[in-house]
Amino acid sequence: MATNLRDLLRSRKPGKSLPQEFYTDWRLFREDLRRVFHGNWIFAGHSCEVPEPGDYFILPVGEEELVVLRDKEGGLRAHFNVCRHRGSRIVAEPCGNTRALVCPYHQWVYGLDGRLTGARLMGAGFDKHEYRLRSGHVRELAGLIFVCLSPGEATPDFDAAVADIEPQLRPHGLDRAKVAVRDSYEVRANWKVLVENNRECYHCRVSHPEFCMSNYDLGLPGDSRSDEGYDNALEREYARWRELGLRPREVNFPGGDPYRVSRLPLKEDYLTESLDGRLVAPLMGELTDPRVGSLRIITLPNLWAHANCDYAVTTRLLPIGPELTRVDVCFLVREDAVEGEDFDPDRVAAVWRATSEQDWELCENNHAGIKSVAYEPGPFSEMTEGSVEAFAQWYLDQLHDTATKTRHVPDATTYLYEPEPSARPELDAKGA
Ligand code: FES
Ligand SMILES: [Fe+2]
Repeated sequence: MATNLRDLLRSRKPGKSLPQEFYTDWRLFREDLRRVFHGNWIFAGHSCEVPEPGDYFILPVGEEELVVLRDKEGGLRAHFNVCRHRGSRIVAEPCGNTRALVCPYHQWVYGLDGRLTGARLMGAGFDKHEYRLRSGHVRELAGLIFVCLSPGEATPDFDAAVADIEPQLRPHGLDRAKVAVRDSYEVRANWKVLVENNRECYHCRVSHPEFCMSNYDLGLPGDSRSDEGYDNALEREYARWRELGLRPREVNFPGGDPYRVSRLPLKEDYLTESLDGRLVAPLMGELTDPRVGSLRIITLPNLWAHANCDYAVTTRLLPIGPELTRVDVCFLVREDAVEGEDFDPDRVAAVWRATSEQDWELCENNHAGIKSVAYEPGPFSEMTEGSVEAFAQWYLDQLHDTATKTRHVPDATTYLYEPEPSARPELDAKGA
């Protein structure tokens, strides 16, 4: 067994799955948190979950917790859930609405902007201005909220992802949606096992009967299989989508940046990812024609999403330990859709609930086998698993000391930063 990170990185053979320690070792898991989850933009949730000032939800990222909230000016904030007095967690409920953040220990009071507004019995020399809550960066992308825990001057670029994804996602109106269904899971597998599973459709035909009713299991990067029916559908649908003004464009990890967006056709007779091909909810956003296929988005390390004409589904990964991952699968419909009249939650969730749960079972089986003394890294298929290799290389790049110039690997002393007070929330992200 390799004894340090450098030896482990050297021991990995390109084209094969990762050595066992990458999936099971606590030290590696801490590196994953520090370099991958604290050093990149991660998906936090949906802007429609915090529509009003004071609305918040807790985002757990390893041992960190952020309070993601809407402030009085309507901006989004992500404060560390750590009191500046002696470090207590401040907010206990996973979501809610509040006018201020009050620490339950000695009742220090913070405004929604993170400023300390009240600290009783601290004496005359105490300066409240020195004890603002620590905060991460926040960006909204067409209704999706991303946060970054990196210090301001070193935040990875996110503008390119916004520029590529936003125009394609915006017509789906995720910022004017609501969460119709939320399925949460704790999957007994390393988070990378889940991403690897997502990056290939080698397993789809046998494992995902519901998914394969409406979806081709082709068209993924790193998968060289082709099919005349699929190629024809792609050409025909691209022409239609252009006419609809949807600006379809496949963008696939450009220059190694950790995101992909692609609108893909659904099978004939399927207007959405449903069991019978019929809509399961009213058209979303600005869409006027249901034949928009399915817009697929992935941002590493922790989001994949499909936006259909009538609903969208997002999958958020949050690592808990090397062998345990929390997953939240949210189904969004337009905000004015009425449950029981316009949609049945079980119909909305039918395809992706089945597909997700099939994947979690595959991942738990995969992880259990990886733990065996009989496990050794096995070969990826050159025909179908090119994207799994691409993910492995991206991941390993995060761990290498020679990080790219746009990345910053925070250490314990620098990954927190304190924004300057500002009237404009977006300017609080110093240098972002
Ligand atoms: S730890 Fe929060 S007020 Fe004391
Ligand atoms: Fe799958």
